[in-house]
Amino acid sequence: MRDRSKMMVAALISGFLLLAACGSSAPAPTPTQSGPKVSTDAQKFASLKGDPVNGKTKYETTCIACHGPDLKGMPNLGKNLTTSTFLKGLPDAEAVLFLTKGRPSSDPLNTTKVDMPPRGGNPALKDQDLADIIAYVRTMQK
Ligand code: HEC
Repeated sequence: MRDRSKMMVAALISGFLLLAACGSSAPAPTPTQSGPKVSTDAQKFASLKGDPVNGKTKYETTCIACHGPDLKGMPNLGKNLTTSTFLKGLPDAEAVLFLTKGRPSSDPLNTTKVDMPPRGGNPALKDQDLADIIAYVRTMQK
């Protein structure tokens, strides 16, 4: 009987982990859990829970200049975020880490030869704001 209830608990936990891995607003899983792995650098962002409403407001203070009001990218400034397979493939914590670093034109992965500045060039954006922005961008992804 005791073994059976242990199994029940284990089944409940793995069900929860699966849900957590699928929900875009859930904290990104750590390497000890199922789902995509999160690098050591991104671990510190894994506990942030994004608020898409604040994210929209913050997006409109900074990212909108290059990525546009519809997130489809301003010509010769920013890329389309709604169709970005790069972003789609990133767990939320990795996406926040990416925003803290940006992608300079000198980076071999840069495709446009235009800088994606760290924090969109706005150092006032806190890590929580970046998590909120990712939550908002997720709602606009195709
Ligand atoms: C000064 C213009 C500028 C601002 C402001 C800016 N970006 Fe960018 N962003 C870029 C450029 C240019 C790229 C493409 C870099 C490249 O060629 O790889 C990019 C790339 C990205 C990517 C990767 C897309 C992909 O498919 O590779 C993401 C995600 C992103 N930006 C999110 C944001 C967010 C969120 C903000 C606001 C916090 C922001 N950016 C602010 C210019 C900007």
